[in-house]
Amino acid sequence: MKLHWITKADQLPDTLIIPLAGGDALEGALQDLANTYELPADSLRHDVKAKKNEIHLLYGRGGKRLFLLGLGESPDFATAQLAFRTLSHQRREQLSPRIGLGLAGRGHAMDTAELLDAACNGLALGAYGIGFLKQEEPAAHPLDEEEAELCILTPKPATDDMKGRAFRGLTLAATQRRIFDLVNAPSNHKTPEDLAGWARKAGQAFGFTVRVIEGQELLDLGLHALLAVNRGSEFPAAFIIMEYQPDGLEEAAPRVGLVGKGVTFDTGGLSIKPSQNMHLMKSDMGGAAAVFGAMEATARLRLPVHLIGIVPATDNCVDARSVKPGDVIESYAGKTIEVINTDAEGRLILADGLAYMCKHFEPDVLVDLATLTGSAVRALGYHAAALFSANEPLGQSLLEAGRRTGERCWLLPLWDEYAEDMPSDVADLRNMGTRPVAGAIFAAKFLEAFTDDHPAWAHLDIAGVALKQGPFAKDRSATAFGVRLLTDWLHGLAGKNPFRQPA
Ligand code: BES
Ligand code: ZN
Ligand code: ZN
Repeated sequence: MKLHWITKADQLPDTLIIPLAGGDALEGALQDLANTYELPADSLRHDVKAKKNEIHLLYGRGGKRLFLLGLGESPDFATAQLAFRTLSHQRREQLSPRIGLGLAGRGHAMDTAELLDAACNGLALGAYGIGFLKQEEPAAHPLDEEEAELCILTPKPATDDMKGRAFRGLTLAATQRRIFDLVNAPSNHKTPEDLAGWARKAGQAFGFTVRVIEGQELLDLGLHALLAVNRGSEFPAAFIIMEYQPDGLEEAAPRVGLVGKGVTFDTGGLSIKPSQNMHLMKSDMGGAAAVFGAMEATARLRLPVHLIGIVPATDNCVDARSVKPGDVIESYAGKTIEVINTDAEGRLILADGLAYMCKHFEPDVLVDLATLTGSAVRALGYHAAALFSANEPLGQSLLEAGRRTGERCWLLPLWDEYAEDMPSDVADLRNMGTRPVAGAIFAAKFLEAFTDDHPAWAHLDIAGVALKQGPFAKDRSATAFGVRLLTDWLHGLAGKNPFRQPA
């Protein structure tokens, strides 16, 4: 979808979207529309409330087709993005490749640049089709066609800020859609090797380096916890290392380490899961997907940060060779782990990812993301990721990024009391607590043990938010949670380095 900026209404295409906020400004905005397009003002006033996701298709003067799009009262980025995505998805049959976006009035009640990001992002995300494995490819969305164009009407010439945000919205949507595909893909279409291939291709296309550790080298280096989880698998594990460092980056620029859980399918292993929702465990690489997406988006947007991404990848399967409950395994950090429950596998592979990151890259700030625990889902449901950080400014910066992007996070504690039952009788650590309480916090404490006391580490448990039920697919489907959150957060770090420790 190309962007085209105009200031004269006579250059608008026939199909137009006009975003409207509810509240005080609505009446005036409707009156203006009635005048401009010869619409019945009383009927507009009666029927158009501009509630969230409310859509009216009206026909106005000069053969114009007008979509009035409700944003609700005092809209923010997330509500606007969802409204545009809903329109794009629901009304694909009525849209055409050339559409106009009417921002000449002030009826949208938002910062124009922010609204442009939301509109571009939402329209492009709404064009996403999930049916990439169907025999017959579903018809392309009009906005995905070669000639697709969004004509943006602003009262004054668009500012650099507006153009930049619109570009960000589109760029991010392109990456988010690639991440949707990755998370929605069934496990037989995304072995660890496939994930490594995905990363290599993205690195080549957008400018970051990729190194994949496989086979004997994993053993030689001592990535034992990853290998332990991989024992039951028919597919070899992969340890994927990505690095983005733009030319001419200042030494003072932040060095950021991201680690993502890349479990391509989680059966639970011998501590096998019930079968009811097991098919959704194809999304147990949601943390890895967020890291992939953040790498790609950061490179595409040329953000001035040094970014390192690590994804330990394997599935967690049942086999005669699988790790058994009670087995003691080694880890990259040297600590031994008693595997009480083979279904607590994410923390094992992340332990190696985190330890490797700290040892080899010494990042100023370290964030890991993982679909780690059912406990996080029970605590926060499907509306927020569980965030853990002992570094208050870091936690706050991620909370704020969550608020800005709608990819919400909520802080949970990391008090040492939660780890009282972590020491094992036979090994250094147990991978599961002794009581069925506060499982997400125990898991976070377990990870903490592998961060080498990093002063700026945050953990995001995204088990509840990596997938979402409707309205864009029938079953739960990928959200690409973390991609926008991390990109926005990294954008905020540009030109600063609040997490560098004094030498
Ligand atoms: N991948 C699961 C966590 C999960 C649950 C993700 C629901 C998405 C939705 C993880 O590997 C797991 O099974 N965790 C166990 C840990 C327990 C055995 C200590 C859990 O949360 O039940
Ligand atoms: Zn598991
Ligand atoms: Zn898992």
